[in-house]
Amino acid sequence: MIRAEALTKEFRQHDVKPGLLGGLGALFRREHRLVRAVDGVTFTVPAGAKVAYIGPNGSGKSTTIKMLTGVVTPTSGRCTVGGLEPYRHRRRNARRIGVVFGQRSQLWWDLSVPDALRILQRIYEVPDPVYRRNLALFRELLDLDALGTTRVGELSLGQRMRAEIAASLLHDPAVVFWDEPTIGLDLAFKRAVHELLNRANRELGTTVLLTSHDLNDIAAICDSTVILSGGRVVHEGSLRALLDRAAHRYTIFGHAGTLGTAETIRTVEEALPGVTATAADEGRIRLRYDVARWSSREVLATLLTRFEVTDCYAPEPDLQDVLGELYAGGTPDDARAVRT
Ligand SMILES: Nc1ncnc2c1ncn2[C@@H]1O[C@H](COP(=O)(O)OP(=O)(O)OP(=O)(O)O)[C@@H](O)[C@H]1O
Ligand SMILES: [Mg+2]
Repeated sequence: MIRAEALTKEFRQHDVKPGLLGGLGALFRREHRLVRAVDGVTFTVPAGAKVAYIGPNGSGKSTTIKMLTGVVTPTSGRCTVGGLEPYRHRRRNARRIGVVFGQRSQLWWDLSVPDALRILQRIYEVPDPVYRRNLALFRELLDLDALGTTRVGELSLGQRMRAEIAASLLHDPAVVFWDEPTIGLDLAFKRAVHELLNRANRELGTTVLLTSHDLNDIAAICDSTVILSGGRVVHEGSLRALLDRAAHRYTIFGHAGTLGTAETIRTVEEALPGVTATAADEGRIRLRYDVARWSSREVLATLLTRFEVTDCYAPEPDLQDVLGELYAGGTPDDARAVRT
């Protein structure tokens, strides 16, 4: 449904000299460099998939989404959404996609939410029964009635995001591009948004490309990931495969016997060199180890022979840790200037 092939976007970036005079000087003598915001990105999203498009600040996520929604034209490479190149067929593409840019409103600032939705119904030619069905759903899950007829420009960030999300789903789009759709939303509305999107995916087969810095959004919605760092893809695959890339694992165990916590920690670290042991809740001990050096099986075997283990479990690797390791391996920002 979505394909990006060697997709690249370069931007001209300008330096502003420090101080007022420098600022004025910039009017006359502009110094610029070319920066590759998206650098040869290739990935595919099959119809009906829910993919998280994630990466650190400035890694090129929004720029990619702007190319996929037709707002920005690639410098080189290409992308298609349902077979169409969005920047060539912007109108046709717009009818089939639902877009939220959390950082920038898609709604008319001077209208009320009900008026904006009615105009969107006309623009997208949404049949009345579909409009009524979707509106009822959004009123229930996003509490649109609470927004009343206030001007969009006077809503709080979270209130406006609820309206933006409703607007993006109004016409039952085949593909949803949501770029930070939950910024400003409280916990209850975040959950409601997860449910809305999962429901659209389940019932209508909606394809999802989602960007978020909130890992809960990703865990609640997505089954697969494309990870960007420094404008390049550093991982593409299932969420499971991503967690399996973790360089560190954890094992937590409780023990009976006479040794105190400090003594147990010392003994474990002697028996398993390189393993870090720390005191965890309720007298348990938490081990962190490098998977290249120790397997969970070796760790467990050592614990069982040395201690009177009362309980033991190995939590999932931490998504935050895995992402931190991947991001660190990407192209640093200062290496992305292609020409000055
Ligand atoms: N219009 C523009 N002109 C010049 N440079 C730009 C422009 N838009 C983006 N960039 C640069 O492109 C790079 C990627 O920006 P982009 O907005 O795609 O990042 P992002 O991954 O969405 O980051 P964030 O997580 O902060 O939203 C950044 O270095 C940014 O400075
Ligand atoms: Mg962004």
